[in-house]
Amino acid sequence: MTRDEARKKVIFALDVNGLAEIDRYAGILAGKVGMFKVGKELFSATGPDAVRAVQRHGGQVFLDLKYHDIPNTVAKAMLESARLGVQLANLHALGGAAMMEAAATAVRKEFGDQRPRLLAVTILTSSTEETLRGIGIEHSVQDMVVRLARLALDAGMDGVVASPLEIELIRAACGPDFLIVTPGVRPGFASQDDQQRIMTPSDAVKAGSDYLVIGRPIATAADPALAADLIVDEIVAGLS
Ligand code: C5P
Repeated sequence: MTRDEARKKVIFALDVNGLAEIDRYAGILAGKVGMFKVGKELFSATGPDAVRAVQRHGGQVFLDLKYHDIPNTVAKAMLESARLGVQLANLHALGGAAMMEAAATAVRKEFGDQRPRLLAVTILTSSTEETLRGIGIEHSVQDMVVRLARLALDAGMDGVVASPLEIELIRAACGPDFLIVTPGVRPGFASQDDQQRIMTPSDAVKAGSDYLVIGRPIATAADPALAADLIVDEIVAGLS
């Protein structure tokens, strides 16, 4: 794998709450990572200006708003996300097949092959079997992850967000073209923070992850650009 191929797999989680911090990180990292993830905190603080700020620095965007609502509302919200020119956007698979189909159909109709790739969140990695039992789901987390990934594929979604430890099962159920985006990635040099079930960047890519979402190992490094470079090096070294 070339450095450029490895770099494109790294998505930096912009877990900040203001435009000035976007300028700081995107200015440093635009040529160093493949994409920037804008999530609920940042989007609630700044709205679509966050996406535009990243784009002004030449960065691509994963809009991580995890929609879950009635099909018509999610389809319209997803269309507006696509119109911002983002590369990845997502929703909760727990919203069901009709909701995912409505979003996938609306976005494919307007954007065709130029569409952002649509991802489904299966079961949040913060959820345990106990969490599921509390909401009346009597299946294991693993069974639910595979079931929801398969439902997402059949509903026309392009991929899922998942723990690196779930990659193998999802690949087996959904095939080689289904995108798998994994947070919970920690390079050798970084702290584990509050992430519980982690993998190194190269192990996650070897296991079949298409994109790695990485936040604090880059954000809190003394030199974030260097940290991003080291992660890319680690991926290339692990795969050669
Ligand atoms: O700083 P860190 O690398 O842990 O950031 C990971 C990012 O991925 C955060 O934005 C976090 O909210 C997100 N995420 C996660 N686990 C999930 C889904 C999203 O860590 N299951």
